[in-house]
Amino acid sequence: MSRYSELESGQLASLLDELMEEYRAAKERKLNLNMSRGVPEKAQLDLSTRLLTAINAASSLSAEDGMDCRNYGALDGIPEARRLMAQMLELEPEQVFVGGNASLSLMHDCLTFAFLHGLPESPKPWAKEEKIKFICPVPGYDRHFAMTEHFGCELIAVPMTLEGPDIGAVTEAVKDPAVKGIWCVPKYSNPQGITYSDAVVRALAALSPAAPDFRIFWDNAYTVHALDMDHQDSLLNIMTALEKLGKQDRVFMFTSTSKVTFPGAGISAVGMSKANLDWFKGHKFYQTIGNDKINQLRHARFLPDMDSVMNHMRKHADIVRPKFQAVLDALAPLGEEGIAQWDVPRGGYFISLNVMPGCAKRVIQLCREAGVTLTPAGSTHPYGIDPEDKNIRIAPTSPPIEELHQAADLLCLCVRIASAEKLGGAAALAPAQVAYGDRN
Ligand SMILES: Cc1ncc(COP(=O)(O)O)c(C=O)c1O
Repeated sequence: MSRYSELESGQLASLLDELMEEYRAAKERKLNLNMSRGVPEKAQLDLSTRLLTAINAASSLSAEDGMDCRNYGALDGIPEARRLMAQMLELEPEQVFVGGNASLSLMHDCLTFAFLHGLPESPKPWAKEEKIKFICPVPGYDRHFAMTEHFGCELIAVPMTLEGPDIGAVTEAVKDPAVKGIWCVPKYSNPQGITYSDAVVRALAALSPAAPDFRIFWDNAYTVHALDMDHQDSLLNIMTALEKLGKQDRVFMFTSTSKVTFPGAGISAVGMSKANLDWFKGHKFYQTIGNDKINQLRHARFLPDMDSVMNHMRKHADIVRPKFQAVLDALAPLGEEGIAQWDVPRGGYFISLNVMPGCAKRVIQLCREAGVTLTPAGSTHPYGIDPEDKNIRIAPTSPPIEELHQAADLLCLCVRIASAEKLGGAAALAPAQVAYGDRN
């Protein structure tokens, strides 16, 4: 097949006829498939079932320091859980607070405390500022953007490059003292699956924002989620880079075991400088006496060190890698036809697909009408609006591989139809609802 842009209008019209014929046949099959959910499949969850027997009524329920995990205490977590999460964050256990079942809650806590009480070096609550702005690298994670939008922040989109956020745009944005933070998913990013380069990490560490209480929200959700465990990406440690510059208070680092063990029933962590941790715990004190230490204990016994985490993640990778490959193989001809572009992810949970500008909503609508659910168009952008209407987030992990083949083929057909319509000007695009939708 030649490139769509080289086809004459008559050729495009007959191509569109053929594609629509195929589409009608696909619709007859009454598919009901879903590529919108960035969640593990059952076989991945099965890998962690032993977590449930890692402790039982016959086990010692004392933490390493002798604390009885059945009782109140240890606001910042039991020693073995702090050590495990510190290894995931590449920090010292003393720098880590182990939270509950969701790192998003810890991010929300940091924002809540900043809005209500200000940061250690600048006690003016953010809520008392006229305006707070947050930098959102796009494409990015919809729940990050939605969280800061919910706090009333103005969201500033900066483009992602293949090395991380566009540092020129970030440097420009932080000249505004209302800009108080940036969202980062530095390793196997959501949705592109890429890792920030050393140069980008160093440049982020070296920023001189006008806001003295600027914070980097460093969400390392996919730190151990390589697709090929024999060729893992390495990410420069931003805390070390910041410490060298005496700017260690600049970052909040998050991770969790959500996609290591059980999403929604794992353990989370935030890592910070001492000043930040004292601030965080000082406010957390009023919220809880402590998190679920029984869950911390069984996680620490199930995954006692990084070797066990990596062995476990190798099993995850073996399950999800063929699924990513199935989608990438299906997409390949679209590249040759000049109607789509994507980044080959090296880890994480998603593939970020760019179709021709103005086509993403139409592709998603066509897929939906033929029984394949995709994440709503725009969800990778602030306010759920992709100004170019071109980005689609594909989540290949959850459907069984046979269904994934069918879903990916249908997606490709819909991309072809939308592109042929666009180039031939055939169909007026029906307005589609933009919503944050099915977020993971
Ligand atoms: C980048 C990123 N951060 C955080 C989360 C959610 O993490 P948790 O379950 O720890 O709240 C997700 C889930 O998809 C994610 O993609």
